[in-house]
Amino acid sequence: MNYNDYLQAVSTLNTWAHAYYVLDDPLVSDEVYDKLYREVVAFEQHHPELIDPTSPTRRVGGAVLEAFEKATHLEPMYSLEDIFDEAELNAWVQRVYKVDSRATFYCEPKFDGASLNLIYENGELVRAITRGDGVEGEMVLHNARTIPSIPLKIDHPQTVEIRGEVIITKEDFEIINEERLRSGEPLFANPRNAAAGSLRQLDPAITAKRRLIFYPYGIGAGDLGVATQAEIVQRLVELGFKKPPYGFHAHDRAGILHAYKRLKEMRDQLPMMLDGMVVKVNERAIQQELGYTVKFPRWACAFKFPAIEKQTRLLNVIFQVGRTGVVTPVAILEPVLIEGVEVARATLHNFDEIERKDIRRGDTVLIIRSGDVIPKVIKVLDHLRIGSEEKIARPTHCPECGEPLYQEGALIKCLNIDCPARVVAGIVHAASKRALSIDGLGEQIVQLLFDKGIVRDLASLYRLRATDLEGLEGFKAKKIANLLQSIETSKGCECWRFVVALGIDLIGEVAAKKLCRRYSLSLFNLSKEEIMAVDGIGEEMAQSLIDFVHSNRARIDELINLISPVPPEDVASGESLLAGKTFVITGTLSRPRDEIKAELERLGATVTNSVTKKTDYLIAGEGGGSKYEKALALNIPIIDEATLRSMIANKSTSTKPSTLFGTH
Ligand code: IVH
Repeated sequence: MNYNDYLQAVSTLNTWAHAYYVLDDPLVSDEVYDKLYREVVAFEQHHPELIDPTSPTRRVGGAVLEAFEKATHLEPMYSLEDIFDEAELNAWVQRVYKVDSRATFYCEPKFDGASLNLIYENGELVRAITRGDGVEGEMVLHNARTIPSIPLKIDHPQTVEIRGEVIITKEDFEIINEERLRSGEPLFANPRNAAAGSLRQLDPAITAKRRLIFYPYGIGAGDLGVATQAEIVQRLVELGFKKPPYGFHAHDRAGILHAYKRLKEMRDQLPMMLDGMVVKVNERAIQQELGYTVKFPRWACAFKFPAIEKQTRLLNVIFQVGRTGVVTPVAILEPVLIEGVEVARATLHNFDEIERKDIRRGDTVLIIRSGDVIPKVIKVLDHLRIGSEEKIARPTHCPECGEPLYQEGALIKCLNIDCPARVVAGIVHAASKRALSIDGLGEQIVQLLFDKGIVRDLASLYRLRATDLEGLEGFKAKKIANLLQSIETSKGCECWRFVVALGIDLIGEVAAKKLCRRYSLSLFNLSKEEIMAVDGIGEEMAQSLIDFVHSNRARIDELINLISPVPPEDVASGESLLAGKTFVITGTLSRPRDEIKAELERLGATVTNSVTKKTDYLIAGEGGGSKYEKALALNIPIIDEATLRSMIANKSTSTKPSTLFGTH
């Protein structure tokens, strides 16, 4: 590689990285990217003096700092006035109209992260400064450079400040916290804290691992040569920044309310946290006329969403024993409404968390709930203590069976396999959708049947008769018949469901499917080597299966007799057309996705959620979005339901095409 090839390679890598991180639309496979990346690394090792500052290798690592330097923004970073309801919005809009009645509005998400000011000179990123007090912040350039959605170079030679929010997705937030829980580090209270904490790491290598995303929302000093906020956002996207997930040009108050309603509905589905909608006067000229107060621009406001963080009292802590014996502390709260949902309990993860946060009975605590996040206690407001709060003692004996508890790493466990709580949770698990899928058999009914001594274990469920249930409170003839019918229907289930129902440590749905596909029911008679021969099954999983079979042989045989699980079709009939093929499903199809997924799996295929280079086919229905685009980019065959049907009808001998997708 000569210098020219090197510069070309750097530019190509940057194009590919932009497509991947900013446009969510990869141009090449990871493998192709990695190969060129390694060539660039090799060139740079031989010619350190020629390293291009925009090389993607410059994004990771860098020196570990002692402390951050302070740096001044070219223009101050203001904050936003909060408004909470329609009346306050009306007043705000009226104040704008008073200055200029021709104003229109641009509505955008209010990201809940950490704000960051990026300064570009001669098109190069030269400084990245946190908001700080608005005038002066901390210089976090090394960290900002590790964020792939921040361009190191833009096509704009004049000095400009680009402002935006650094965020972390809800999913990555949960992943980071799970890791921190395992390694005994304090948890981040919310995605905002995780983003801010990650941006202020003295070691940029840590920031690089946190998968931060930068969304631009405006400019400070400088000029992009455009007249409106809508055009600023568009121009920033053209310069290589990531497009925010929502933006709406509203002409009046009604338009703003429409956008607010829409964004609020989208909120739970969006991968990142929003805490409101920012409304900005669209016209730059009118913005200037309106000007600033000491703290806020008069041309923008934050229309907040109803709080998902609320304050309440912690009345008590109870200890719940799960199927595997792990004891989880649960906070019992004075009920509070969060966005229309009453929250009366919140998880406390494990006992170490209680000690770390010094949570006491009677404390006032801050709790959080958001769409896909279970309610959590995030903080004790200890300045509100009145002195009568009580420390919570570490449990020494199982609250359910009274046996001594054992400490296993950060976990407290009840090891008694006959512990009533474990048995009940085990039956609930076996009956759940992802296992035997017994309709109408939830936690309450299992608990009732167990308490009455009618059901002792999973096997006894399959010996239930109508006479056992007659006379039980709430059990009328119809309910009894339905329940018995659901239990009956679960017989003859697919083999993997049976395996999941057993609740073997480390063997989840994916492993159960792989094992059943390869070995069917003989999976209970295998050596460790045979088990590990299955792709993706490691030694720990194999050992767990062996140990389980060793101590439960009679129980497994009894359950096989009662439930009669069936082997997957390809094991029974030998070769299957779809064996080993990976499918992804997108868009609206003629039947529920779960149903199609089950059919495909029965024919030996794997169904995954995201399109990667390993995907063999994308089945696309109406309105497939990003998966569709990704399959196009990766050159993965995209087929519709009809094609799949005829593909099977033409080629397959061992499957019955008419049963795959039904007739419609
Ligand atoms: S505009 C002069 N737009 O909210 C304009 N800010 O509460 C000031 N924020 O410090 C900011 N999303 O970190 C603006 N679309 C958005 C925003 C946004 C999030 C943050 C920003 C600011 C804070 C003010």
